[in-house]
Amino acid sequence: MMKLWGGRFTKSAEEWVDAFGASIPFDQELVHEDIEGSLAHVSMLEYCNILTVEEASTIKKGLETLKEKAEQGELDYSVENEDIHLNLEKLLTDEIGPVGGKLHTGRSRNDQIATDMHLYLKKHTIEIMDNIKQLQQALLGQAENHVETIIPGYTHLQRAQPVSFAHHLMAYFWMLERDYTRLEDSLKRLNVSPLGAGALAGTTFPIDREYAAKRLGFDGVYDNSLDAVSDRDFILEFMSAASMIMMHLSRFSEELILWSSQEFNFVELDDTFATGSSIMPQKKNPDMAELVRGKTGRVYGNFVSLLTLLKGLPLAYNKDMQEDKEGMFDTVTTLEGSLKIFSGMIETMSVNTGVMEKETHSDFSNATELADYLAAKGLPFREAHEVVGKLVLQCIEKGIYLLDLSLEEYQTASPLFEEDIYEVLKPSTVVGRRNSAGGTGFDQVRSAIKKAKRKIQEK
Ligand code: ARG
Repeated sequence: MMKLWGGRFTKSAEEWVDAFGASIPFDQELVHEDIEGSLAHVSMLEYCNILTVEEASTIKKGLETLKEKAEQGELDYSVENEDIHLNLEKLLTDEIGPVGGKLHTGRSRNDQIATDMHLYLKKHTIEIMDNIKQLQQALLGQAENHVETIIPGYTHLQRAQPVSFAHHLMAYFWMLERDYTRLEDSLKRLNVSPLGAGALAGTTFPIDREYAAKRLGFDGVYDNSLDAVSDRDFILEFMSAASMIMMHLSRFSEELILWSSQEFNFVELDDTFATGSSIMPQKKNPDMAELVRGKTGRVYGNFVSLLTLLKGLPLAYNKDMQEDKEGMFDTVTTLEGSLKIFSGMIETMSVNTGVMEKETHSDFSNATELADYLAAKGLPFREAHEVVGKLVLQCIEKGIYLLDLSLEEYQTASPLFEEDIYEVLKPSTVVGRRNSAGGTGFDQVRSAIKKAKRKIQEK
């Protein structure tokens, strides 16, 4: 078969070589963006009197037909036609005759593919921002119900100080808020049109790049044609933000997995998001959380792979760049899927407040309180730390906790102790009093939730 670019060639290609070079097996994902880009391009050619009204209208009709067929899944792609651009051009000429060949006036596949990918990523970035918002809403829903639910807070995975469960959940809300604004910010650089850069140097035709850009919803055009066709920063920026989102979800997954273990038993994931074992009838595995944690690896991989792909490329377009697509698609699919799964998992998660309550009474995470108590009464903090350390040791030897010691025992350790220590040591007092800005005190958590809600309303 004669190639669309076959003029200069004397030998026809071999099928297996074609198959190696082709991107159509994966870039057909861009069919809608490619048609949208072409529709804007042909309108621009008409507006600039490069094509006649009749030519442009025939091409537009042809493109509309292809669009409908694409929606019905009726387009027949072939590997000989290499990629989505040449396939559509071939299908267009089959549809409307040789005038279809005029569509490519003043354009190259190099600015065309860059345009398609900008359009694709813009659409998905907006969708992903919405997915983030949904997850933030799910977190807010749970947080509102658990301001006064207390869990042990950890450092080094050792019990440190008790915290409000809502406060713990809201930590993820704010991570996601940063993720959201990172994507939002990336849109500024993403929403720029490469179309009209041609192969690398611009074109001799009197085109109007701004006109086409506007039709496609871009804010402006690339300033440099070489940069326009070579730039993949917008994908890297997306992938970097995606990697961070996945990292956040992966940390959260790890906590959900721990929390739903028999050892913690803090939460129970809904049956929808768990699976059983084929052999052990008692098991309920947090598979979806594990999968999100696992999928984080491929999202990092896609990012590093594209960075590596680009690092040695001279300007302008190089065929290596065809390898930029699968990773981008995979990152989009993985991220969208993971965020949706997470929203569902958080919304439906049941919280074992009884277990949490019991646990916060069975540890020494109120020890700091005792040291602060003595320090507030004038004992140097270092000495207070020492006194409380000894009391903790005393408890460990007896197999009891700080609330179980008698006032006599306290006063033997330090005459500064009085009856009110029992109130001070209660987990609810410990948490409730931490009202420094951004702390876990109930009032702080309530106002953080209010602030978070306003953020959501602004979106
Ligand atoms: N399929 C190509 C890609 O994805 C489109 C651009 C091809 N340009 C070229 N001059 N061969 O990168």
